[in-house]
Order: sequence, then C-alpha cells, then structure tokens
Amino acid sequence: MSNQAFYDRFFPENFWASLDRSSFLTDEQSMFGGEPVFEWIIKTVRPDTIVELGTWKGHSANHMADVCKSIGLSSTKIICIDTFPGGPEHWVLGDVLTDMRRRNGMPTINDAFYGNTIARGNDGMIFPLTVDTVAGWRIMKDLGFTADLIFVDAGHAYEQVVSEIEGYMPRLSARGVMFGDDYQAHEVANAVHDMARKHGFTVAVIGRKWIAVTETLLRYLMLPDVQLRTSFDGWIHP
Ligand SMILES: C[S@@+](CC[C@H](N)C(=O)[O-])C[C@H]1O[C@@H](n2cnc3c(N)ncnc32)[C@H](O)[C@@H]1O
Repeated sequence: MSNQAFYDRFFPENFWASLDRSSFLTDEQSMFGGEPVFEWIIKTVRPDTIVELGTWKGHSANHMADVCKSIGLSSTKIICIDTFPGGPEHWVLGDVLTDMRRRNGMPTINDAFYGNTIARGNDGMIFPLTVDTVAGWRIMKDLGFTADLIFVDAGHAYEQVVSEIEGYMPRLSARGVMFGDDYQAHEVANAVHDMARKHGFTVAVIGRKWIAVTETLLRYLMLPDVQLRTSFDGWIHP
C-alpha cells in the first residue's frame, strides 16, 4: 500500500467541494507562535507529505502550507490529525473555552479550521483526519502511509507524547524528520528525552520547539539559538 491509497480512500478529488460550508468561519484565535524553525525545517527537508498531530484552528498547518508554497512546493499535502475536542488546558484556560464556540456542548473548533484554511487558499493542500492520534498512526500503518515531516502538537501529558513518538516514528519516510511544540512543558520535554535515549536521536531545542535530529540533519542545523540537549534541565527561553 502507499500514500496514494490513503489519499484515494479519505480525500477523493471532490473532498473540499463536498463539505457543507454553512457553519464555517474565519477566526484569528491561535495557539500558534510563528517561529523560524518551520521555515528552516521545510526548506531543509522539502517535504512531499507533512503530518500534523494537533491542529486546533489550523494556524500552524496553514503556516506550513504557506512556507511550502513560497518555495514552490505547492503539491505538498498536510494531513491534520485532530478530533477537535481541544485539550484539557483549553477547557480550563480563561477565554479559550469561549473560543471553542461549543454547540450542544461540543466544541466547533473544526469550523474555524475549515474556514481559516479556505480563507488562506490552502484547501487542496491541507486535509483533516478527524481521529485521535492513536487511531491516526494505526490507520497510517495499515495503509502503509509515510510522511517526510511530522509535527507533534497535540497533548502535553508524558504518556501521550511518548505514545505519539512511538506510534509515528515508524511512519517517517527515509528522509523524514519529527519535530514538536511545547518543549517548555516538562512532561513533553521528559517524554522527548526518554524517546531520544530509546530511539537514538539527538534533541535540538529552538525556542519552544524540539527536533528529533539524526546524524545527517545535524550537519544542516544552522539555526541561531539552537541548543542540543540530553535532558530537560529547566526552561531557559523567555
Ligand atoms: C495546542 S493545540 C494545536 C495548535 C496548533 N498546532 C497551532 O499551532 O495552531 C492542540 C490540539 O490537539 C488536539 N488533541 C489533543 N489531544 C488529541 C488526541 N489524543 N488526538 C487528536 N487530537 C488531539 C486538540 O483538539 C487541539 O486542537
């Protein structure tokens, strides 16, 4: 099986045209801090396929799509894995609950994700796989799907991040790179370091982002403020 089997099954040509757009909206509310690491990593890897774990309203996915287009990669596909319930932190943080615009008690984050993606002209590049992250890697494994870039930004609990790194590492293509958000959260950082020891990658930290760096990628790692770390050792970035 191949990536094409995956696209054919879930995202036939009329996928975006088939959506009921009546509840879509655009919404600038974002978890996304546009950091230069996205541009660097996309320019270095030149991915055909990106998987994003944790999409919220689509700002990081749309940023990655924009970066791809800016370097001529307009046929890159970005698969966004999110069930759109929000994380526990969103349910307890002040105004974020309002930003989830619950209808009949259910968050409608996906309406903003769809609306924002259309408004940015990135439908056709971005596709939602609306399952949880465990179901996501199982589906991808069954269909033989691989990605050149996997961005981990779903939950912040140690067990979740461990299970995502374990589940998605085998989904990386030969030139594939995994990176993620929220290194400042100690459970995320500890999970990343434990997985680095187990799988033998180096952890590069840039701002809040972590990159699972292989020997080859290490040679290209020319970003200002990058740190190679072997353990969390506290958070030193502002
Ligand atoms: C921090 S937000 C993502 C922010 C987004 N990447 C951005 O920068 O714009 C985390 C998202 O992960 C999703 N999420 C959390 N745990 C999940 C799980 N186990 N499976 C699928 N989605 C999950 C939540 O619904 C939420 O939308």
